[in-house]
Amino acid sequence: MRYALISDIHANLHALDAVLADIDARGDVDAVYHLGDLVGYSAFPNEVIGRLRERGIAGIAGNYDSTVATDYKHCGCKSETPRQEELAHISYEFTRRTVTAANKRWLGGLPFSLDLRPLGGHLAGPRLVLVHGTPTLNTLYWTEDRSDEFCLKMAGVVGLKAGDAIAFGHTHKPWHRVVEGIHFINTGSVGRPKDGDARAGYVLLDLGGADAWVEHVRTAYDLDAATAAVREAGLPDEFIEFLRTGGKPVAAAV
Ligand SMILES: [Fe+2]
Repeated sequence: MRYALISDIHANLHALDAVLADIDARGDVDAVYHLGDLVGYSAFPNEVIGRLRERGIAGIAGNYDSTVATDYKHCGCKSETPRQEELAHISYEFTRRTVTAANKRWLGGLPFSLDLRPLGGHLAGPRLVLVHGTPTLNTLYWTEDRSDEFCLKMAGVVGLKAGDAIAFGHTHKPWHRVVEGIHFINTGSVGRPKDGDARAGYVLLDLGGADAWVEHVRTAYDLDAATAAVREAGLPDEFIEFLRTGGKPVAAAV
């Protein structure tokens, strides 16, 4: 099975459409799954949900999805400065206001994780488990500097063995490591990368056979249209700069 994994779209419809077009053009992807955080920070939360629903793309809940779905008091995002906290609040309130009641219900029904096996388990083969943050919490950041011991502990939570894989997002910074034969894959972010590359990021992987491979793909998209929509929605300029710089806005460094 050849999978495409898309995560942390964050209401960026232009980035999502570019990624889906890129996947379609390949012609050899068997299934596409999302890893949550569909909404927040950009202008098109309902349209992103609509696109995934019309394409039948299944997936899991991100922290942003669950908090918006339940009108929780905070998005569960980490802020390092008072201004970041203020921006997080603006984004969250815009999203809570904008997402329709029907879409909140749909977000509330997303599962915590998915366990993918060849032909739904009909065939023996490697497992691919999807979570948003970690198998224990969807707000925990699984960054590249986590130890091998941490990775194996998380793999143990879902019972993975050599040849299996677990994919997750949440940090918006892509990485891939193999520990004791288990693949640990951070997908990066479609709609709000934080690694300094403004292009949309997603993952292609194929676990079949001895030659399992994982590829992080970057896709250019119409940043001008996406940022114009952010401005029109009345969202702060910092969000525009964030998209343009791949998460390295000058203002945030001050
Ligand atoms: Fe996110």
